[in-house]
Amino acid sequence: MPLSVTVVGTGYVGLVTGVCLAHSGHKVTCVDIDRAKVDMLASGTSTIYEPGIEELLAEGIKTGTLVFATPEKGWRDLIGDITVVAVGTPMSPNGAADLSAVRAVVEALAADADRPFTLVMKSTVPMGTGASLRQRYLADADVRIGYVSNPEFLREGKALEDWFKTDRIVLGAEDESDLALMRALYADIEAPMVETDVASAETIKYASNAFLSTKISFINEIANLCDYIGADIDSVSRGIGLDRRIGKEFLNAGIGYGGSCFPKDTRALDFIATLNGYQFTLLKSVIEVNTRQRMLPVFHILKALPDLYEHSIAILGLAFKPDTDDVRESPALDIVPLLTEHGARIRIYDPIAADIDVPGAARVDDVWAALKGASAAIVVTEWAEFVTLDWARVRETMIGPGIIFDGRNCLDATAVEAAGLTYMAVGREGRHRVGETA
Ligand code: UGA
Repeated sequence: MPLSVTVVGTGYVGLVTGVCLAHSGHKVTCVDIDRAKVDMLASGTSTIYEPGIEELLAEGIKTGTLVFATPEKGWRDLIGDITVVAVGTPMSPNGAADLSAVRAVVEALAADADRPFTLVMKSTVPMGTGASLRQRYLADADVRIGYVSNPEFLREGKALEDWFKTDRIVLGAEDESDLALMRALYADIEAPMVETDVASAETIKYASNAFLSTKISFINEIANLCDYIGADIDSVSRGIGLDRRIGKEFLNAGIGYGGSCFPKDTRALDFIATLNGYQFTLLKSVIEVNTRQRMLPVFHILKALPDLYEHSIAILGLAFKPDTDDVRESPALDIVPLLTEHGARIRIYDPIAADIDVPGAARVDDVWAALKGASAAIVVTEWAEFVTLDWARVRETMIGPGIIFDGRNCLDATAVEAAGLTYMAVGREGRHRVGETA
């Protein structure tokens, strides 16, 4: 049965939620305070880069299951039976999640509501937030407002697949009637449901991202060790990942995780732990390892080119991972200033990353312009375009040692070296060169 759903916030999570629920047949209103964004979305143009989203947007608008609005005239007429909050919770300078947008929306919804509804929290909020929002804003509202914590597990670039083929749906609620409504909302999605209390659902979100970050930092530590002892991280990752208890995913070593989620959520979880009097030692190390990992290319390039002020360096990739234009917490943003500090001339190329200003670096429109006259190149993002480069042409385009620092362990090391370039990576020092199927 189609439900009336309102999604507040048309950022990444909100927009994906809106178009997917509309595709499932629900009657969805996506609300945002940004009028320009709302107009653009209503005309069928996506405000984010995500494979498949424009098609679902067009479909929803055409069938009338998806409309867009601003809350200019108050919330009363916008509130749906289910109202999903999907506004941002960016990182505050102290590492905590900034909940001001979440609080403002919940307060406004509670003040304007004139009929009961269920509020669904999809923004990533620290443990305990649901309880405090209910106490502070919902308990005194004129009507009953149910509360459900329903964290999202969407990867950028694969969000639609992650929505419709999710590994699980997590629902944290205190009331059976809210849970029943949520089951109806997701009736067409086949996935195990974890029905629990609000605090546990909130914890599942942070624990999932912290665990995946831990896996990455762990494999990066092993990769660093491989370089010391002359072992091959590709074989090691494969060898441990085949153990089903460990699993193959998230064992790609490199210059560490970035993006809008892992860095923010690990720091927020550390902050919550500290605030509650607990020292989450393991998590602190995960964060520290990730920070250090970003410095690896700089460390190695400085060793090879101590007179860095004489050299041009190409940065290949600015997005925090391939298939997204998102540059938030991209390792490139930490690497570039370290290089410019030493006087290096930097040219950055990325096929689609957002056009942001990176101080001290020039952005160029194709990979060859970035590589021209460069003594070293750092692969920051594993775009397919970099994996399939013509290495002989790269050698002709670059000068001096022609260092290729493969920050994502994504290149064919043998092909790079065969072209006469100097290959560096993370944990591939002792790589197997013959007959190895890593
Ligand atoms: C991540 C989670 O995967 C989603 O489940 C979660 O919903 C989302 O955060 C969120 O909290 O909203 P996302 O940030 O889009 O999704 O990206 P991932 O594909 O998970 O990659 C995160 C970072 O880890 C990237 O910088 C990637 O390069 C890095 N990574 C990933 C590695 O360094 N090694 C790996 O083996 C895997």
